[in-house]
Amino acid sequence: MKKRFPKNFLWGGATAANQYEGGYNEGGRGLALSDLITNGSNSSPRKIYYMDTKGNENSIILGMSLPKGAKSILKENQYYPSHKATDFYHHYKEDIKLMAEMGLKCYRMSISWTRIFPNGDDALPNEEGLKFYDSVFDELLKYNIEPVVTILHFDMPKHLADVYGGWANRRLIDFYTKYCETVFTRYKDKVKYWITINEINVLGGYWTLGLNSASEDLTDVNVEKGAGIHIKLPDEEARAKFQALHHLMIASSYANKIGHEINADFKIGCMLALSGIYPATCHPDDVFGAYDFRRRAYLYADVMLRGYYPSYSEAIFDEYNFTLQKADGDDEILRDFPSDYFAFSYYRTTTYNRNGAKTVTTGGQQGDSNPYLEETPWGWPIDAKGLRFVLNELYDRYQKPLFIVENGMGNVDAMEDDNSINDDYRIDYLEKHIKEMYEAVTVDGVDLMGYTWWGPIDIVSAGTGEMKKRYGFIYVDMDDLGNGTLERKKKKSYYAYKNIIETNGECLHK
Ligand code: BG6
Repeated sequence: MKKRFPKNFLWGGATAANQYEGGYNEGGRGLALSDLITNGSNSSPRKIYYMDTKGNENSIILGMSLPKGAKSILKENQYYPSHKATDFYHHYKEDIKLMAEMGLKCYRMSISWTRIFPNGDDALPNEEGLKFYDSVFDELLKYNIEPVVTILHFDMPKHLADVYGGWANRRLIDFYTKYCETVFTRYKDKVKYWITINEINVLGGYWTLGLNSASEDLTDVNVEKGAGIHIKLPDEEARAKFQALHHLMIASSYANKIGHEINADFKIGCMLALSGIYPATCHPDDVFGAYDFRRRAYLYADVMLRGYYPSYSEAIFDEYNFTLQKADGDDEILRDFPSDYFAFSYYRTTTYNRNGAKTVTTGGQQGDSNPYLEETPWGWPIDAKGLRFVLNELYDRYQKPLFIVENGMGNVDAMEDDNSINDDYRIDYLEKHIKEMYEAVTVDGVDLMGYTWWGPIDIVSAGTGEMKKRYGFIYVDMDDLGNGTLERKKKKSYYAYKNIIETNGECLHK
């Protein structure tokens, strides 16, 4: 008999505070680094402005570190998309109702660290911020929607970067674990599923790690077009990044320890960006190159799920003359407190071409396009079968429950004369990916906890800061510069996903 999807499968949607929540200066919230990023586009990267030690104003692009001693600034006459985002802060009741009507079983969201600790190192948490998330979780639970909470999603306090130099400083481990302990304790009866850090394998530079250590000429940085965050790091920045990521992984392991002490039923996962990678040809250098490329992402999952640095990490570190600094007890905390499950994002696949290695980044994400696949308007190859491949690849390697916590397509939506939005391209993407996911579970036997579509409601793009790169089943009336009524409207895809959830995926498998 053909197996079916598990009855308790977590169908849902996913967002992040810095792209959705807004209310950046309300309720006692402090400034986060995501609040300092301008809008942009595929051809004009998002920027962070700063003042250098001589008082000169300049800017960096996403992924880069600030020069030593520089301080980031908010610049007048710039549009900062996170400040309002699509205003979940004031619309959460309306939005959660829409999600409930769509049938979502779970909703993945992130907590904004600076809403809880405005500076990151405050002695006491901000009660108004804690209350806000109490209200959000209560609203979700009212509709039997299970919250899945990301503790850190591209969203660190500016003060921790200014004063401590970000995650390069081990003290951040203490601030982060205090933040974790605070939210674990406060929400222990409301939230069961946690994710410690979003997409750890693609973090880097100032925005996501608060690194303030660049000494090389930033104007030399090679930025590739077409795929959002796509940057080759200079050696010194790569070294700072590896050390910072070590601190993050230690912090994540402490969070696993503390979380289970607070509530033994918690499920606490790690999360990586794991869109797939193929060799461009069967030339052995392409095949091994693709494998080597993939290991730059596996590295972090190996540490967080298996509990130790893999042997090949030495070779990667050697490329940058990097020596990892470990403190006493680091090996033990990694070994003893691995993640409970493996959450990942999957949007696309990419190909590794031995002649096109200049497009490879250390995060293991970007590469060349694939002649067999169609692409989104933002140049992301669409590859549903690749999802089945990646699910098998990860389950074979780690044998831990998997959770697809981001999958989706960014596209331009047009409103018809009758005000309807007929996003058949999104429905096609959704259905094809879910069919492959179904095969992975029912035929290949992958242990999959759930699936959360990225941006069930339109939110700001992380990579480009655009609003027109929409992922939602629910439209939000707002343009790239924040103009619009913020009115919410169901798209055609809303009904398609509702039907998939209602039938537990069976409607696609008659
Ligand atoms: C993931 C991030 O990398 O990709 C999200 O976790 C992001 O925050 C998503 O929004 C899609 O990327 P983009 O650039 O289209 O928003």
